[in-house]
Amino acid sequence: MIEDGAVLCVGGKIVSVGKAQDALRDPWLKKNRKKVIEIDCGRRVVLPGFVDSHTHPVFMQPRLVDFEKRISGASYEEIAEAGGGIRSSIEDVRKSTKAALTTKVLSALQQLAQHGTTTVEAKSGYGLSLDSELKSLEAIRAAARQWPGTVVPTFLGAHVVPPEYSGRSREYVQHVCKEMIPAVAKTKLADFVDVFCDRGAFSAEETAEIFAAAKTNGLEVRAHMGQLSETRLEPFLKFDPASLDHMDHVHEADLEALASSDTVATLVPGANYFLGLARYPDARRLIVSGAAVALATDYNPGTSPTVSMPMAMSLACTHMRMSPSEVIVAATMNGACALRLAEQKGSIESGKDADMAVFDVRDYREISYWFGVNCCVLTVIHGVGSGTLAA
Ligand code: NIG
Ligand code: FE
Repeated sequence: MIEDGAVLCVGGKIVSVGKAQDALRDPWLKKNRKKVIEIDCGRRVVLPGFVDSHTHPVFMQPRLVDFEKRISGASYEEIAEAGGGIRSSIEDVRKSTKAALTTKVLSALQQLAQHGTTTVEAKSGYGLSLDSELKSLEAIRAAARQWPGTVVPTFLGAHVVPPEYSGRSREYVQHVCKEMIPAVAKTKLADFVDVFCDRGAFSAEETAEIFAAAKTNGLEVRAHMGQLSETRLEPFLKFDPASLDHMDHVHEADLEALASSDTVATLVPGANYFLGLARYPDARRLIVSGAAVALATDYNPGTSPTVSMPMAMSLACTHMRMSPSEVIVAATMNGACALRLAEQKGSIESGKDADMAVFDVRDYREISYWFGVNCCVLTVIHGVGSGTLAA
């Protein structure tokens, strides 16, 4: 933590970080002061831009029927079994044009940035046919080109078995492995392949098969794991997943292997909050075991309709006993590790991208203390700020 700090950025990169008084004494800066654009943050708190390493932004409509059904007592799984859930977002996405999806994704990216996020992982996963999945990934690419931040695209063809493959999950997995993944790799539309490995979605065996196909096609892997039920993690670590996400249920015997791996445990408490679950992932157990814990929004229409990393951080403090400083690390540096971007993102260090967020608070702990308000007043992406700093 640097009090009265200054960051010098050139060409979108951070070149030095330190005390403002030292920066003002710097001979180069003295000579070039007029050429430099100065953003006076006025004793507010400046953080590395958040790295939201888990979002599902390619959808058209909020799922309000599911929302009301859950309020009346139905569970997420009951709603999914009755044809709601992920499957109810498919039709919209299949019918929509790439342009319409692009507009949706871009608007989500802009809202994420307003809340301090500068790097976003974005998954497909509501198309679930070759054409609609490619269309979804193209929408992510098109939106990313119009947004100054960094977007990491992920192919989530194995989100659920789509209705036309109902009862034929094996065939769908073959389709994902033999047709979809090679097409995604060939078009370079995604960096990662994700699988929803859980009860009601894909089994551990199917997930391993999909991971193997991803690797054969030169793509890295990540997965939704342990959201609804426990799956043993160790068999997957050999695929070197960048991250395993949700992790509400983790077997004790997997902790050591997870801790000694490069895999990040990404927790998404927004989903627990929105599904009204009493139980949250056991962050302390993971941290004590030595695993790297990241936080993400899981922005999606079914379980976590939020673009706010500070909300996820607040929930992690109040429901997962993470400290206000731990949640900052989890939302920045560990998110960068979960996207394999630790060299460029996640901290304010010379050589890294000049991505930062300014909060209208005096103490960093306030960022997760004030909940339901957006304290982010300025987002700096590649050295360029957007937002308003009142005097
Ligand atoms: O991360 N669990 C799977 N995928 C999403 C939910 C998607 C949805 O319900 O639309 C999640 O929670
Ligand atoms: Fe998710």
